[in-house]
Amino acid sequence: MATSRVVQCAEAIVDIRKDLVSKRRIPKDYRIKELDHRIRRERTKFEAKILKEARKLGVPTPIVLDCWRNTITMEYIVGVKLKDCISEEYCKQAGNLVGRLHSGGIIHGDLTTSNMIVSRDRLYLIDFGLSFYEQTVEARGVDIHVFFQTLRSTHEDYETLIEAFKSGYREQFDRADEVLGRVSEIERRGRYK
Ligand SMILES: Nc1ncnc2c1ncn2[C@@H]1O[C@H](COP(=O)(O)OP(=O)(O)O)[C@@H](O)[C@H]1O
Ligand SMILES: [Mg+2]
Repeated sequence: MATSRVVQCAEAIVDIRKDLVSKRRIPKDYRIKELDHRIRRERTKFEAKILKEARKLGVPTPIVLDCWRNTITMEYIVGVKLKDCISEEYCKQAGNLVGRLHSGGIIHGDLTTSNMIVSRDRLYLIDFGLSFYEQTVEARGVDIHVFFQTLRSTHEDYETLIEAFKSGYREQFDRADEVLGRVSEIERRGRYK
């Protein structure tokens, strides 16, 4: 019997069948139909493109098998979400991968421990649906800030996990200190708002 699992999120319907995942962007009712059509196709194409580029930068991502209209078909990563197997070692790996992305000019846009999968001891980044190209310290800082917020809200030992991430990030990216300084600034801004 074919097993299928369907996950519906804000932007997409994700259909997981054996070793394949199809991610279909769903319509937004508040947008004009024609425009919505075009935006979804473009966003889908862009997501597939960034998935491939990240891979070229040495960041494990699912292999894209097809991209047609508003659907990407990709490899299913068998594994455990980072939030369910968190450790310092994996957080360091995460820092390393984000460092590679950032030095390649890519912002992930949704760095949470649900968008990272550990498969055979290797960390994969998934869900590039909100990704974009940007080389500013601010965009990189916000990207990492989102990740730290996830750690703080879900893991008691978030401080050591954050430190592990930072060490991986520093190892990989020569502008790391500048970006991590900005992350602290973003956190201060948030506190006094
Ligand atoms: N290639 C993949 N391999 C394994 N699981 C995946 C894959 N793509 C998506 N998933 C699962 O589907 C969920 C939703 O997919 P995701 O790309 O994160 O969509 P959304 O943008 O709606 O969050 C993920 O959290 C993950 O559990
Ligand atoms: Mg997601």
